[in-house]
Amino acid sequence: MARAHSSFVCQVCGAVYNRWTGRCDACGSWNSITEEAAAPPVPGAKASTNARNRRAVPFESLSGPTDQTPRMLCGIGELDRVTGGGFVRGSALLLGGEPGIGKSTLLIQASAALARTGARVVYVSGEEAIAQVRLRAERLGLSDAQVELGAETNIDDIVASLSSGRVPSLLVIDSIQTMWSPTVESAPGTVTQVRASAQALIRYAKTSGAAVILVGHVTKDGQIAGPRVVEHMVDAVLSFEGEHGHAFRILRAQKNRFGPTDEIGVFSMTGRGLEDVENPSALFLSSRDTAAAGVAVFAGMEGTRPVLVEIQALVAPSPLATPRRAVVGWDSNRLSMILAVLDAHAGLRLGSQDVYLNVAGGLRIQEPAADLAVAAALVSSHLDAVLPHDSVFFGEISLSGSVRAVSHSGLRLKEAARLGFTRAVIPAAAVEPPQRSSDDGISVSGMANLTSLLRHIAPSGGQQRRSQAS
Ligand code: TYD
Ligand code: MG
Repeated sequence: MARAHSSFVCQVCGAVYNRWTGRCDACGSWNSITEEAAAPPVPGAKASTNARNRRAVPFESLSGPTDQTPRMLCGIGELDRVTGGGFVRGSALLLGGEPGIGKSTLLIQASAALARTGARVVYVSGEEAIAQVRLRAERLGLSDAQVELGAETNIDDIVASLSSGRVPSLLVIDSIQTMWSPTVESAPGTVTQVRASAQALIRYAKTSGAAVILVGHVTKDGQIAGPRVVEHMVDAVLSFEGEHGHAFRILRAQKNRFGPTDEIGVFSMTGRGLEDVENPSALFLSSRDTAAAGVAVFAGMEGTRPVLVEIQALVAPSPLATPRRAVVGWDSNRLSMILAVLDAHAGLRLGSQDVYLNVAGGLRIQEPAADLAVAAALVSSHLDAVLPHDSVFFGEISLSGSVRAVSHSGLRLKEAARLGFTRAVIPAAAVEPPQRSSDDGISVSGMANLTSLLRHIAPSGGQQRRSQAS
């Protein structure tokens, strides 16, 4: 029996139903709907139902006084880069990531760094006891920082305790899933509780001027309640990603009301916590197999920073009726498109082949500029032609098979030159006619279309050799 004021809420996406169903129509999840008490009315909502009590809302002009130094740099370079130049006072930020990826480690390091500048920093853990947090701080060499620790999950008590004393510059809540408000009837961890707790904290941030960071766990299949509904409420959403087997972690802004969303921060997890990686290209290319076919180096851009990364492809005859296409670190639709264009405009028949594509080092590439490097890796693997180890590739491929120019050619070439590359295969439009080498001493080959790429990789017609053999 449903309680008098209850509703049924999907714990994955937050959709609300009048009765229980096995499958959420909104997001398609099974068995994700639980009964929850209806959300309480907004405080003070009743008083204003009487028209005479209504308060005039003041409207302001766009110009006018703004807050003093609204940003706080924490001194961890990669984190400051992703937030767009430091934490913003009075804002709420959600840091999402799988359990164990290093969210608590990053935030205790950021808290300590900020506290060392003299700011008041409060770190509330709902998951770990004070002793556990201390132990970690000790291992990271941060015990001397004046961070105020709390182990509490009752959001009303936390907010009330903060209202006495100096307003903290930074408040970290680890994690939002463990917080609960006694004014809401649902169990801790449910969407309603997470939403109510986040609302209380965001209200606190806006009224007090403190920067609030909420930690949110997200599993691969999004099973844990919360972060998805909180994403709309906060000012910035950062996601912390990485493969558990690798030491690097990538911090990416998914939404940022105060900065860019295309910057990434690269860290490596060491025995002494997370360390900034200022030169990610060197890291991504560190263990390179230069004598194998199917490997191409892509000169990419992540925000304002050039990043070189290795793209690996494996093309092999498939025993299956529907050959396998597996992609790690890139868009699988984009791979299908490149395969179709290679087929239609370069005569490369990969329809009966399994195709595997991997971006080394756990990086996820979103730029179309990677098309040419992907095509080169695929062609190289298919023809068993090893690409020169000192070449980089970039360029966008259009459906007509032509190679289109991309932005920041100069920066990409400069980074490649810095890392010791001497050749670049780039869009023909980016090569000025008389010039066969860039200012950095890299010799550039301009590709107008995929046919010229194929000729560049296998001038002796390796394609025919392979197709006769099969
Ligand atoms: P943690 O910050 O607790 O992850 P989260 O809060 O996202 O759940 O990180 C836990 C992992 O990080 C754990 O598996 C051990 C590893 N780690 C290190 O490798 N070095 C360190 O100095 C620390 C503190 C953690
Ligand atoms: Mg944690």
